[in-house]
Amino acid sequence: MKRSKIKEILSTDSFEYKAKVAGWVRTFRNNQFIALNDGSVLTSLQLVVDFESMDKELIKNITTGAAIIAEGTIVPSQGRGQTHEMKCEKLEVVGTSDPEVYPLQPKRHSMEFLRDIAHLRFRTNTFSAVFRVRSTAAYAIHKFFTEKGFVYLHSPIITGSDAEGAGEMFRVTTLPPQNPPTTEEGAVDYGQDFFGSETNLTVSGQLEAELAALALSDVYTFGPTFRAENSNTTRHLAEFWMIEPEMAFCDLEGDMDLAEEMLKYVIAYVMKNNEEDLIFLENRLLQEEKSKPQHLRSEMNLRDKLAFCVDNDFVRLSYTEAIDILKNCKPNKKKKFQYLIEEWGADLQSEHERFLVEKHFKKPVILIDYPKDIKAFYMRMNDDGKTVRAMDILFPGIGEIVGGSQREERLEILKSRMEEMHIPAEEMSWYLDTRRFGTCEHAGFGLGFGRLVQFITGMGNIRDVIPFPRTPGNAKF
Ligand code: 4AD
Ligand code: MG
Repeated sequence: MKRSKIKEILSTDSFEYKAKVAGWVRTFRNNQFIALNDGSVLTSLQLVVDFESMDKELIKNITTGAAIIAEGTIVPSQGRGQTHEMKCEKLEVVGTSDPEVYPLQPKRHSMEFLRDIAHLRFRTNTFSAVFRVRSTAAYAIHKFFTEKGFVYLHSPIITGSDAEGAGEMFRVTTLPPQNPPTTEEGAVDYGQDFFGSETNLTVSGQLEAELAALALSDVYTFGPTFRAENSNTTRHLAEFWMIEPEMAFCDLEGDMDLAEEMLKYVIAYVMKNNEEDLIFLENRLLQEEKSKPQHLRSEMNLRDKLAFCVDNDFVRLSYTEAIDILKNCKPNKKKKFQYLIEEWGADLQSEHERFLVEKHFKKPVILIDYPKDIKAFYMRMNDDGKTVRAMDILFPGIGEIVGGSQREERLEILKSRMEEMHIPAEEMSWYLDTRRFGTCEHAGFGLGFGRLVQFITGMGNIRDVIPFPRTPGNAKF
């Protein structure tokens, strides 16, 4: 008999048919009821075994964590709490699990503990729900862009360029660490390295996406990116997945419209397709927040918050307007911010972003036209000579979720910006070629996929929405 996934069995109202299931035991009660979970859905299938007729050795091996394959008849459940159950006729324990040493017990474990056993945390309700949602969200992103006629581009992971000019990169080399070859000046001679030049893991696929957009019109990347910044926060990873669309013949307005439409589409898609997971995650969050003081609890429950985001226009305002609000707001005047906003030009910290979104506007916010000095070299200069056509989207509980801009398409202005920011134009001549040959208005953005999944699942830490988080001091598994 072919194995059925538990999701299929629970999704129909048909009964009195034979089925075969396989999965892992969550609990075994009264020597009679097995809760079997196969990860296809949150709900476990109840298997009812006949203790009297069963081999006692076999019964002993039905323990939490054991892998079993069972055959039987699907019937309406007599008990409360479930609709279906399987009257078990054949049962095999294919992988035993010693309950004395199996780290997961049928009780609530702390997120920190589960991070330490990340290889097993997929087997909890919370993490199976998170990773199903993550998968649905990834699919929704591909679906959204495909329906819009975007070309999915695989930008390189190993590169010689530092897209953001931020300089916080992981080096890629095959030179011996002990005594690498050196140049006459005594520096490491990367000319003798694998690629014949210095290389690193990409921090962003944007520059390559721009090259492709100036031929294919609309492209997007969706892949891992790497940043060697020593940021120990709940929103930073050293390895994170980013979605980067890039559009030719598009300005900042078009860029913002696309970003807003995409976020709403993906959130709505998950709400429609992972309802059970979201209900579970919503209750998990409610439980978690019970231990927090009232003012730190969310004002809306998880699904209401998601619906609110889908149903309302995001607020759009300039950096300059935001600074005015922040300068005059209570937490700034009462010196409650860690970084006080004193003047125009200040870089916004997450406390400021969250104030705007959570306290002031109570809606997602798109901030535009940032001072050029706090943004990357490729952003289009405004006529004021002070600000650039940048946009950041700020989300409740998260802060910055999207960063993007209209790109500087004018060769001379771009070159002088690069000079100002000490970016060697010779090494970037491939990038400048797009401005030399058929340049045009274009724009794009980067969405941090982990932050989006954090928002949708309500998980407090980005380390809990990626299977194996890479953070300073940790690359386990
Ligand atoms: O704002 P960022 O640095 O922008 C870029 O990389 C541009 N090249 C994007 C573009 O215009 N194509 O990063 C974009 C987004 C951020 O808004 C944030 O959501 C996420 O990537 N992000 C991180 N997520 C997790 N861990 C980190 N260390 C992150 N750094 C950025
Ligand atoms: Mg940014």
